[in-house]
Amino acid sequence: MEPAAVLRRATKVVLFDLYGTVVDIQGGLTEAVTPYLREKGWDGSPHRFVTWWRRTHFENSMIDSLCDRGHTPYREISHRALSYVMDRCGFAYAADDVVRLVSRIETLEPFPEVPAALERLRGAGFRLAILSNGDRDMLAAAVSHVGIGFDHVISVQEAAAFKPHRRTYAKAAEIVGVDRSACLLVANHAFDCIGAKAYGMRTAFVDRRRRPFGETPHRPDLVVEDVTALAAALA
Ligand code: LAC
Repeated sequence: MEPAAVLRRATKVVLFDLYGTVVDIQGGLTEAVTPYLREKGWDGSPHRFVTWWRRTHFENSMIDSLCDRGHTPYREISHRALSYVMDRCGFAYAADDVVRLVSRIETLEPFPEVPAALERLRGAGFRLAILSNGDRDMLAAAVSHVGIGFDHVISVQEAAAFKPHRRTYAKAAEIVGVDRSACLLVANHAFDCIGAKAYGMRTAFVDRRRRPFGETPHRPDLVVEDVTALAAALA
């Protein structure tokens, strides 16, 4: 059977990653930092600055989960990551600048194709959920800002670890109340698909940025260019 047919038959709940999959974090943060970096006289690429910030963020969130001695809020991890990158850039900044730039994460816009694609999935009978590394209050702000309804909005704070820790997927399956094999995790990050798949969920990789998935035994069930293509395959 083709992979999409298996997913159509088996999936009850589609769990979406938020940042980079539903909302455009790279584009939105690049827009936010561009005038700021120019003001600071830093003449590197704002796009690459955001990539550096995000990669530092992921590294720090994974260290937090590996240490596994309490869960540091996403916002705090992001403050630390942005400060680190600005220190490396070598310009002076205020604590308020960091707080203000990180707060932009709460008002990111969805990718334009996403709302209609989610409606199509909902119309086909799937329950829709968010499973995000963001803090509870950040997710509440983001979801009310984008105006898209989800059946569940789950922060990894419920599991006290960041994705791809197995506890995050286990807690999500418990909250949505279906077996892990009936959960389809949809993300634009390979690490998230790998974590969910290793836990026993099915996965779809949204390859928005045309990147190789990388070698792993935990391949996604489906690779799609965007959520519209996912809805077309499933609905
Ligand atoms: C999230 C990050 C990983 O929304 O994109 O969980």
